[in-house]
Amino acid sequence: MTPETITADASGTWTLGDLVVNRIGFGAMRLTQNGEALIPDATSSDRAKAIDVLRRAVELGVNHIDTAAFYFSPLRSANELINRALAPYPDGLVITTKVGPGRDPSGQWLPHATPQQLRGQVEENLRQLGRDHLDIVNLRTVGTDSIAERFGALAELRDAGLIRHLGLSNVTPEHLVEAQAIAPVVCVQNQYGIGARPEYDEFVRTCGAQGVAFVPFYAIAGAGREGGASGADSAEVAVIARAHGATTAQVRLAWTLQRGPHVLAIPGTGNPDHLVANVAAGALRLSRDELARIETLHRRDAAG
Ligand SMILES: NC(=O)c1ccc[n+]([C@@H]2O[C@H](COP(=O)([O-])OP(=O)(O)OC[C@H]3O[C@@H](n4cnc5c(N)ncnc54)[C@H](OP(=O)(O)O)[C@@H]3O)[C@@H](O)[C@H]2O)c1
Repeated sequence: MTPETITADASGTWTLGDLVVNRIGFGAMRLTQNGEALIPDATSSDRAKAIDVLRRAVELGVNHIDTAAFYFSPLRSANELINRALAPYPDGLVITTKVGPGRDPSGQWLPHATPQQLRGQVEENLRQLGRDHLDIVNLRTVGTDSIAERFGALAELRDAGLIRHLGLSNVTPEHLVEAQAIAPVVCVQNQYGIGARPEYDEFVRTCGAQGVAFVPFYAIAGAGREGGASGADSAEVAVIARAHGATTAQVRLAWTLQRGPHVLAIPGTGNPDHLVANVAAGALRLSRDELARIETLHRRDAAG
């Protein structure tokens, strides 16, 4: 592949509510620290480098950025970096944020926000991003408890004009049904990638059938989760990558995009070279045979 010349529009587009985005986007979680994310004693990233990555992403055509007020390290805040790098925001840039559990100022996780506290979290995102409304807000949850009350609180903020569209994160299909009875849901952001459990495949299909975007996280990091990519990919994925002159990370991203036109990628990186490679992955098309070989692996990993 010749990644330098490839821009995010090569991945095609999807419409979130009334907002059109390129299918290759960017996740901001990796921008605030070096190494593991979301830990209290993380080593803060280089500020200028993080800002450069964000500006380069937009230059490369990325117009969908995922963030959260709880993406911070001792010295960096993802929302503040986005604001500094990109405001005044270009037309067409869609910033998706998430609320639900927060982190206290020392970085420790807090319990789920109450419906009343969700308004405060939305306002925190507005202040940090320097905006008067948020494009998309995902309600992130942990566990299987009802989200009706909390999603209802966000629907009221949508009605009040603080939020344009609503989504869900870390949810079950039952949560999606519950939320849709309250307000439209434009996206589901869940963990997904090669080796994900079969019921997750089913959820990806369910979202597609309903025109709801499915936005996987940890598509590259996989089991490394907050710790990041281990680089240990199966030999089969490595062979397929070599055949395209690509990396295994690019194959992982391309595979998620080929699960359906409604799948949007939000790879996270603080590395400018990885950013270029991730955007280029939007142009990588795996053949039917390659998809079948990865499917075997996918099923085997899921069973293992
Ligand atoms: N809703 C939720 O619960 C939730 C949870 C987690 C994440 N998220 C969102 O989803 C986004 C994606 O998740 P993520 O950032 O953890 O995972 P990811 O995109 O799957 O992988 C990121 C990891 O892979 C590395 N990486 C990225 N591009 C690479 C490349 N081209 N080649 C080799 N390594 C590469 C990164 O390190 P380098 O920095 O060194 O490139 C980092 O270790 C996050 O940024 C965040 O916005 C949402």
